Amino acid sequence: MPEKKIIPPIDLQEQTASIRSEVDEAISRVIDTGNFILGDEVALFEKDCAEHIGVKHAVGLNSGTDALVIALRALGIGEGDEVITTPFTFFATAEAICLVGATPVFADIEETSFNIDVCQVKKLINQQTKAIMPVHLYGRIAGSQNGKPDMSDLKKAANEIPIIEDACQAFGAGSPRAGALGDIGCFSFYPTKNLSAFGDGGLLTTNDEHIAIKSKMLRQHGEKSRYNNELLGYNSRLDAIQAAILRVKLKYIDKWNMERRGAAEIYNNLLNGCEQIITPEIVCGHIFHQYTIRVPGLNRDELKEKMYEKGVISMVYYPIPANKLPVFEDRFPDCPVSEKLANEVLSLPIWPEIKPEQQKRVVEILIQSIKEISS
Ligand SMILES: Cc1ncc(COP(=O)(O)O)c(C=O)c1O
Repeated sequence: MPEKKIIPPIDLQEQTASIRSEVDEAISRVIDTGNFILGDEVALFEKDCAEHIGVKHAVGLNSGTDALVIALRALGIGEGDEVITTPFTFFATAEAICLVGATPVFADIEETSFNIDVCQVKKLINQQTKAIMPVHLYGRIAGSQNGKPDMSDLKKAANEIPIIEDACQAFGAGSPRAGALGDIGCFSFYPTKNLSAFGDGGLLTTNDEHIAIKSKMLRQHGEKSRYNNELLGYNSRLDAIQAAILRVKLKYIDKWNMERRGAAEIYNNLLNGCEQIITPEIVCGHIFHQYTIRVPGLNRDELKEKMYEKGVISMVYYPIPANKLPVFEDRFPDCPVSEKLANEVLSLPIWPEIKPEQQKRVVEILIQSIKEISS
């Protein structure tokens, strides 16, 4: 009997093949011009992104992490300032706050959305709060009750405090779109992101011209004009080759996001009635960068291992909430919901071109593995 293929957490081979000739042409174009740093390709990609997202300015950067750091610096946030954020995220969110010298203040999350709880945020706002940094985790817009895709409740709570959206997992999510909801939006084009480069890349979005100008200075050593350095900045430019590739992919992002949602619906149907599993809500504007279930009452790590033995690779985003990471040495108070969910979450394979047969096999293996670890 032929061996069954392993189902990976993400597989972009089919997608890459479908746009390969366009991508090859885009790369050749950059090679032919010889303009590898900024230039037309980056400017055109920024224009396309600004239009897609619905903002006045987009600034191409070399990672999502740098987008977060530069957003904070552009707002003048540093030593002595506090930034309220979620602990249930990739470390870069809290890391960026620390890197500019400010202090992260962790607001716990809601069980249903996995996103920052606006009621907790309200309790933590004080004179030192200089920004709020929600994360649209797994592609679901944070900061709205009842699954609205517009961050409306968080905006109300923030009042005049600037909101920096960590939209690294949410390109194209929301309505209005992520990156146009707060004061600054930050995106990652890491190869596994829903809009991904063939390497690192990032983007900052804003409607504020001064923030856009300062961000452009910060990405290029604080230069106002060539060799006229007014600020201590970074080398954080988006590569022209990555911008050219991303411009090709941007044309398909809405279709790919719809396909992700379709795959999430299929999973939810297949898992309907499975009592040990809590499936994610399919709310408006969610683009399912990840499809994440909860398995309370089960040993999640044992389940993951069992599924792996049977040929399905699932992922845990994230096993330790940021407030409990060793780097912070117990400095931060507990966030009980985040700490509980960190033991329950399991992300199943998802990508736009995943086949219903593959999803069926994932679910069969998931259910079989649950039976085996429960017996
Ligand atoms: C929520 C979140 N924030 C920040 C980042 C950092 O992005 P990058 O890897 O491009 O620096 C990521 C990506 O891994 C992320 O998922």
